[in-house]
Amino acid sequence: MENPSSNGIENTMQFKFGISPEQIFSGLIALLSLAALVFLLLNQPDPYIQKTLLLKGSVENGGRLFKMNCVGCHGISAQGLVGPELNKISKSRTDKQIINQVLKGLTPPMPSFEIEEQSMADLLSYLHSLD
Ligand code: HEC
Repeated sequence: MENPSSNGIENTMQFKFGISPEQIFSGLIALLSLAALVFLLLNQPDPYIQKTLLLKGSVENGGRLFKMNCVGCHGISAQGLVGPELNKISKSRTDKQIINQVLKGLTPPMPSFEIEEQSMADLLSYLHSLD
């Protein structure tokens, strides 16, 4: 048996929930803009890292900082102890990775250090001098 009123409802439903090509298009545009925004935000250069990389470090002062803060774990000549040896670290890690390692304490037991940009640049120079 045919039921004309149920047909009527189906038609309105289709009309209400159907998505037009324009809607799909603007939805895609919105999604793309959101993805672009997230990408831009995640790729913001870290101002600390930018500044540190521009500074000229002092190997001598870096060596002093290393002896005060790092030798307990990395050894007096960076030969490795509790922590890994760091003699060739700037060959296997970028400066950015080394800075993050020192600042963020991502790999316990290595602590995170609060260290100003110039001192960080000095430490980097010292680590480069070990290569
Ligand atoms: C309490 C011990 C400790 C101290 C202090 C410490 N570290 Fe570490 N460090 C470690 C350990 C352990 C690791 C290895 C973590 C892991 O498993 O990746 C490490 C890893 C590193 C790495 C990465 C090595 C690699 O091959 O990826 C760098 C670079 C580093 N330390 C630099 C420093 C510097 C510079 C200092 C001083 C400012 C310092 N560490 C002080 C324990 C320490």
